[in-house]
Amino acid sequence: MFHKMVPTCNFARRMYSAAAGKVKAQKYVLTKYFQGEPKKSDFKIVEEELPELKEGEVLAETEYISVDPYMMIYMNSRKLPTDMIGGQVAKIISSRNQKYPVGKYVSGYFGWRTHAILNPDARITQPGFVPVTVVPDLGTHSVSLSLGVLGMPGNTAYFGIREIIKPKPGQTIVISGAGGDVGSHVGQIGKIVGCHVVGFAGNDEKCEYLEKELGFDRAFNYKTVDIRAALRDSCPKKVDCYFDNVGGEISATIMDHMNKYGRVGVCGTISSYSEETLPKVTIMQPVIVSKELTVEGFNVNRWTDRWNEGILKNLNWLNEGKLKYHEKVYHGFDNMVDAFVGMLRGDNIGKAVVKVK
Ligand SMILES: NC(=O)c1ccc[n+]([C@@H]2O[C@H](COP(=O)([O-])OP(=O)(O)OC[C@H]3O[C@@H](n4cnc5c(N)ncnc54)[C@H](OP(=O)(O)O)[C@@H]3O)[C@@H](O)[C@H]2O)c1
Repeated sequence: MFHKMVPTCNFARRMYSAAAGKVKAQKYVLTKYFQGEPKKSDFKIVEEELPELKEGEVLAETEYISVDPYMMIYMNSRKLPTDMIGGQVAKIISSRNQKYPVGKYVSGYFGWRTHAILNPDARITQPGFVPVTVVPDLGTHSVSLSLGVLGMPGNTAYFGIREIIKPKPGQTIVISGAGGDVGSHVGQIGKIVGCHVVGFAGNDEKCEYLEKELGFDRAFNYKTVDIRAALRDSCPKKVDCYFDNVGGEISATIMDHMNKYGRVGVCGTISSYSEETLPKVTIMQPVIVSKELTVEGFNVNRWTDRWNEGILKNLNWLNEGKLKYHEKVYHGFDNMVDAFVGMLRGDNIGKAVVKVK
């Protein structure tokens, strides 16, 4: 389903005096399927000289690249060798498109590469694509937020809450993967709505951050607590909405503690992404039937036509001080794989990004 997010990138020589000389782009090419955790030896870094810009195109130089869980499943379904996919935020350094002048920042799915040629208009017209987005004025905030709280993960949280689990004030929301980018954002919107918010994350530092910095009512280390006991303790009125980022046994346990007519938004199943065989978990259908739960999977691409609505709403909350974020920034194009593995291992609180330039 993620193939729609990947643009067709041509590569070009810079056209204008602002960018004299031929541009050489570096890019990651996946040459071996991931087995367990990704390894540097699964990739090679390839250099290519870029061709000339055509009318309507821009040349963008990468500033930050995102590492995201979906890359694991998506890449293993592609024919190899293939260019590595990924969201990034980049500065336009040459342009043959008046709407996208030199100096503007754009975000989109340009892949793990240092430069890309884009035709932003062509992509906007293709339904299902996450559009190339001109980064709005972020004031003193870093443009890297376009990959996190003001980008795809932020929109996943916004639309996942608003359109899928639809919590009402006073209800209880539980979030798995709560210390990551999507999960920490979902919990904060839950508090904005007026809910009782409980999160599960992978270490004590993340839990302390969720409770003390982000205002979660409770947060638990899923690696050390008894999940049932934690739910009994923290959700005395049981669970109305479950935002599921991880799947697996913890999700079965949380769904078993839900109220009748509860709503489950299945956002991701990261507990299985690095596994070579899918884990066996407690059957969930009996509880779905007896509690008459609504369980809905979703992909944030569903709302590409409302993309800026999510970004601007999140930006407003950020500027009002209602939304906070945390980034783990890795440095250097050579460190993409370390960042990717670190994110999968849970080294990041909030969003993991790589600063390329
Ligand atoms: N449906 C969509 O359109 C959409 C869009 C974006 C993201 N997603 C999904 O949302 C989820 C979160 O994405 P994100 O971008 O915010 O990533 P993230 O949470 O920032 O990073 C991934 C986190 O997953 C946790 N994790 C890793 N292995 C795990 C396991 N076996 N069990 C439980 N947790 C594990 C780690 O944190 P811990 O320390 O807590 O283990 C890690 O930090 C992912 O499943 C992703 O695929 C879906």
